[in-house]
Amino acid sequence: MVSRVSKKKRPRKELYQEKEIEKTEGGVFNRGTMIRLGKFFNKGIISKIDFPIARGKESDVFIAEAGSAETLEGASHVILKMFRVTTTSFRNMSPYIDADPRFARQVGKSREKIIETWCKKEFGNLEIAAKAGVSVPKPYMYNGTILAMEFIHDRKMAPAPPLVNYTLKNPERMAKAIIEDVRKMYSAGLVHADLSEYNILVGDDEKEYIIDMGQAVVLKHPNAYEYLQRDIEHILKFFNRKYSLSIDWQSIYNQIVQEE
Ligand SMILES: Nc1ncnc2c1ncn2[C@@H]1O[C@H](COP(=O)(O)OP(=O)(O)O)[C@@H](O)[C@H]1O
Ligand SMILES: [Mg+2]
Repeated sequence: MVSRVSKKKRPRKELYQEKEIEKTEGGVFNRGTMIRLGKFFNKGIISKIDFPIARGKESDVFIAEAGSAETLEGASHVILKMFRVTTTSFRNMSPYIDADPRFARQVGKSREKIIETWCKKEFGNLEIAAKAGVSVPKPYMYNGTILAMEFIHDRKMAPAPPLVNYTLKNPERMAKAIIEDVRKMYSAGLVHADLSEYNILVGDDEKEYIIDMGQAVVLKHPNAYEYLQRDIEHILKFFNRKYSLSIDWQSIYNQIVQEE
């Protein structure tokens, strides 16, 4: 049984609906999308689509009410990340797909196929990360260009804000937790490759959640170590700048790489 939440404990449309997508909703749900969404209903992942909460770089993100699937572990709501096929910054994706040995055969496929691969890749990356104990939303299901995952929210059921929009009480603890997540990902053979204050959500009690894993690559990718260095440098420079910490990103990078 899905646990039903009281009216008060529902994500509130008037506060969190992403206005930009509201206008284009008709365009988002084309025939193919409707057919794919049907699969999420059939598998008991969702029972109703609520409203869009964010417009990301390459996707529109919706909240849906949960279905009865056991994998949801009683969650009341689910996030649906719907990749845009037409307006995605498509060329930016290829370095993270072509040279990743898991997906090299996708080269030369249609735009839709590549976005599907991207979606499948994000699902797979979330699975690897979750298994390695990294704090990520639990991946539930993917189909075509749609990915369903755990809804990260606060006590009031508001979507957890990205790190960039939140002022931390304990930035040092958060920075350490993120470094630990990067270390666990690396131990599992994965590099996020777009780690930033936009792709980390702040949950209750300032718990970190790493999101947006489509571009994450395995260590065999020729640029994996360059991406790892870039991730660590970017996120620690953000903490040093915003919170006046003085963490030496270079030594953290060296520690993570040398530990193996
Ligand atoms: N699991 C989640 N729970 C709550 N909000 C989420 C979740 N996933 C994404 N979001 C929201 O959607 C936005 C875009 O998601 P993201 O995965 O970064 O997409 P994009 O690749 O399009 O940038 C995030 O900044 C966040 O506000
Ligand atoms: Mg993002």
